[in-house]
Amino acid sequence: ADGPLSDRRGREVRDLRISVTDRCNFRCVYCMPRSVFDKDYPFLPRKELLSFEEISRVARVFAARGVRKFRITGGEPLLRKHVENLIEQLAAIDGVELTLTTNGVLLPRMAQRLKNAGLHRVTISLDAIDDPTFRAMNDADYPVSDVLKGIDAAAAAGLGPVKVNMVVKRGVNDAGIVDMARHFKGSGHIVRFIEFMDVGSSNGWKMDEVVPSREVVERIDQVFPLENADPNYIGEVAERWRYRDGSGEIGVISSVTQAFCSTCTRIRLSTEGKLYTCLFAQNGHDIRDLLRRGASDEEIDSSIASVWLAREDRYSEIRTENTARQRKIEMSYIGG
Ligand code: GTP
Ligand code: 5AD
Ligand code: SF4
Ligand code: SF4
Repeated sequence: ADGPLSDRRGREVRDLRISVTDRCNFRCVYCMPRSVFDKDYPFLPRKELLSFEEISRVARVFAARGVRKFRITGGEPLLRKHVENLIEQLAAIDGVELTLTTNGVLLPRMAQRLKNAGLHRVTISLDAIDDPTFRAMNDADYPVSDVLKGIDAAAAAGLGPVKVNMVVKRGVNDAGIVDMARHFKGSGHIVRFIEFMDVGSSNGWKMDEVVPSREVVERIDQVFPLENADPNYIGEVAERWRYRDGSGEIGVISSVTQAFCSTCTRIRLSTEGKLYTCLFAQNGHDIRDLLRRGASDEEIDSSIASVWLAREDRYSEIRTENTARQRKIEMSYIGG
């Protein structure tokens, strides 16, 4: 490895998002709608998945190229058997922040084990603070209380400050924006409101279902006055807003109305070992074959380098109702 890699738009590779399973115990309407992800859906068979050793090896090569953040995703990553063993391997790589995104319901059982394995933080998805809306959105009858227990378990295990992600869909859960903010205000947890995106090809995305972040901020500001806060780091995805009374902050993620492609330093490794240079990519670059053919670290490095050097992606900057209809990779497969 010869230091950081820049793509064709001058962006360096800094974050590696690793999907460890394409399965999930939820069926969120915007991610794994039941009409598509039913009992006949062809989830990946076990032998197709990268092993933890394969994942760690790729991760080490990326770290040598300047990657400073690993995020474990899915599907639901806590469904992958013994995921704590992967965490242990990744935590052994120096100088890299290690986080995980989960729906939270398995955390009461697992949070302490994940912390002990070396996980730094978690991000937990929660789309509503009222039960009927949440059950309708996860479409698997999980109550809000299961996720709240997961958030508590994470905080108790030292995996905080916890970030809580709410995907906002107009007419579905947007009436609960202020309630969500109110619930977590002063808790030390940070709620981030995410614009509903056209990921994948099955969530039936329409522009009029997107609630622009500007509107989210306005609605909360009317009840709890907010002021803008500086980013924690260049290229931070969420825009930060602080409560003027000092009781914490929220974030908004505006991939639709204010694309952040120009600072996008993320690459994604799929469950079966394909690299995706964009969340909205139509194709990945297989590296599993290389791994299984006994390639050296140098060969893996040059394969990774050629993928990143050729990168031009900026999907969110050029999105239209038409591009939204293209065939794309599913979020449950590639991870958030
Ligand atoms: P932290 O600052 O460490 O919490 O990382 P983060 O802000 O990247 O958090 P997280 O990974 O939870 O991302 C939050 C959400 O932003 C994701 O779940 C996606 O919905 C969206 N997102 C993250 N990365 C991208 C990206 O590269 N492109 C687009 N379009 N959306 C993204
Ligand atoms: N639009 C916006 N966010 C999404 N997520 C999943 N699908 C979408 C979508 N279509 C979010 C999840 C989770 C993170 C991994 O991405 O709710 O917080
Ligand atoms: Fe599962 Fe997360 Fe997708 Fe919901 S958004 S179906 S919890 S992977
Ligand atoms: Fe990065 Fe693609 Fe998201 Fe733009 S749309 S921020 S290039 S992942």
